[in-house]
Amino acid sequence: MTSRITASSTQVIPATGDVPRHVAIIMDGNGRWAKKRFMPRVAGHSKGLEAVRAMVRACIERKIGYLTLFAFSSENWRRPVEEVTFLMNLFLKALQAEVGKLHANAVRLKVVGDLSAFDPRIVALIREGEARTSNNGVLTLTICANYGGRWDILQAMNQLALAHPEKAGVYGESDLTPHLAMSFAPEPDLFIRTGGEERISNFLLWQLAYSEFHFTDILWPDFDATALDAAIASYQTRERRFGRTSEQLLGESAVSPAPTCGFGELKNS
Ligand code: FPP
Repeated sequence: MTSRITASSTQVIPATGDVPRHVAIIMDGNGRWAKKRFMPRVAGHSKGLEAVRAMVRACIERKIGYLTLFAFSSENWRRPVEEVTFLMNLFLKALQAEVGKLHANAVRLKVVGDLSAFDPRIVALIREGEARTSNNGVLTLTICANYGGRWDILQAMNQLALAHPEKAGVYGESDLTPHLAMSFAPEPDLFIRTGGEERISNFLLWQLAYSEFHFTDILWPDFDATALDAAIASYQTRERRFGRTSEQLLGESAVSPAPTCGFGELKNS
């Protein structure tokens, strides 16, 4: 079954029988994975990178179009300096080692977040990697780095206010969404958080408004294709109503446009 993709997935009712178009993941539990094995926390991050590789493969195999990973939040700078330094080096090495492989598999790489705080070498590698893979269409892998959902909404709001000061006071959703960091992707259909916590920790606050949530106790380094399949199976049992009743959904096509409110956009659920 085909789904129409628009800038905001709240504009369509995607077919839940399909694999999700877009899976977004908070990769939590690296430190606890290492601690359980009497290893330093950072060993959990190295193992976590292996799980990232496995997840990219699994998404390609399942024809998932977008995989978005929360690699480093704006709050993660508060961690011990050695751990932050390790994560930065891991990111640098991953970019050096993986971009060629991503490109060979037709994966498009995107990195979103406030990159102004990163080492210029990392920023240069990010921009090179994004440019090299920009025409790839099998999977879009987005790494959220120094990302925060509130930061994203604010930077989009500021861009919009600068671009259209004359419309202040009457901005609508469709004015704002092109300025959000992930405007190139449909909103996530499925949000997964590993590691047992059940919160979204300032991840994609705007974009997760209508996503289905799946929380698992599995620690990120142990999250594999089987665990992804369990999350997808759970997603496929959900009924995405976008404010409608079950009865309304039964009477309509799975991809019909969502009802619009007076301003041409869905108001709330
Ligand atoms: C959360 O686990 C994980 C992170 C803050 C970093 C995620 C990084 C990776 C998975 C590896 C690098 C990835 C890329 C894309 C280069 P935690 O440390 O909070 O674990 P804990 O809750 O058990 O302490």
